[in-house]
Amino acid sequence: MSTNQFGKKGWTPERLGNLSGKTYLVTGANTGAGFEASKILLSKGAEVVMLNRNETKSAKAISDLKAELGPNVKVSFIKMDLAELASVRNAAAEVIKKASKIDALICNAAIAQVPTQKFTKDGFESQLGVNHYGHFLLCGLLYNRIEESNGRIVVVGSEGYKMGIKTIQSDDMNWDKNYNPMNTYCHSKLAQMMFAYELQDRIRSANKNVKVYVCHPGASATSLIKTSGGLRDRIIFGLMSMTPLVQSAEKGAYPEVMCATEEEENLNQKAYYGPTGRMQWTGPVGECKLEPHAQDKAIATKLWAVSEKETSFKWNF
Ligand SMILES: NC(=O)c1ccc[n+]([C@@H]2O[C@H](COP(=O)([O-])OP(=O)(O)OC[C@H]3O[C@@H](n4cnc5c(N)ncnc54)[C@H](OP(=O)(O)O)[C@@H]3O)[C@@H](O)[C@H]2O)c1
Repeated sequence: MSTNQFGKKGWTPERLGNLSGKTYLVTGANTGAGFEASKILLSKGAEVVMLNRNETKSAKAISDLKAELGPNVKVSFIKMDLAELASVRNAAAEVIKKASKIDALICNAAIAQVPTQKFTKDGFESQLGVNHYGHFLLCGLLYNRIEESNGRIVVVGSEGYKMGIKTIQSDDMNWDKNYNPMNTYCHSKLAQMMFAYELQDRIRSANKNVKVYVCHPGASATSLIKTSGGLRDRIIFGLMSMTPLVQSAEKGAYPEVMCATEEEENLNQKAYYGPTGRMQWTGPVGECKLEPHAQDKAIATKLWAVSEKETSFKWNF
């Protein structure tokens, strides 16, 4: 068994120092792992800009954070619906105006196991559209600001990348022929991870310094399945959440906070970070086993081209 580089307990927020002066952007930060990640970052003095789709939930999240951490914590919200490319463009423009630096953009928001085939405003299968295309465009639009800041991009993947079809269904990205709530979710999370590893290569070829890290929260008790999943999956996950198979949302936030903050020399871009215990669902946070299909260069190159075409966005390094 390999030993955890961060010790027996793995990475925990105890490793964090003072983060004042740092600015973190978190997508989907009003609940779940994104909310907990924001709380940890704020508690260490960082500024957090939440990119959320729902104004009411965001106002509540901000008031809860201020009630717990104090009225002066630097937390704000920009409205962004990843299911609409125009909304992503507007949000990115607002970020550029408001955030003079970005130490890390944490791509955390997602929907999962949507029971029937649905489409985003731009006509993409909903899980691929929200989880991958929306973040692909957001990262591209904010890339220059992240680069100027010597910042990072953190992509929150999922153990689902190794379930489902384990590749990108490039002849039917919308799953018109074989829609399946779980397989299609897994496809979208694999796409996010492949995008991240491909982005690292492109940044390196351009001699640029932005770092991109990939992590996952294991199995965490969040609203993910409750919000977007079907009744059967909601019941199953609700029951599982009462067992030790599932950890707290707070623990689920550790890998993304680690990837946003840990010293560069302690992280490896080609790695995959998350809980290292049973099934990689819970346990000490560290480097997890990664299956090679997540770094298949030919598939990633093709996915990149499709993503640029579908989002009408050409990356410029
Ligand atoms: N929980 C797990 O066991 C698990 C396992 C593997 C991977 N993950 C990954 O962990 C990450 C965090 O998820 P979570 O478990 O914390 O789920 P969560 O509690 O449901 O949080 C997801 C967040 O994403 C937001 N979101 C959904 N659709 C959006 C859209 N169209 N535009 C903008 N924001 C949107 C949600 O907003 P609303 O509140 O408005 O819905 C919410 O803030 C996701 O990337 C997920 O794939 C989770």
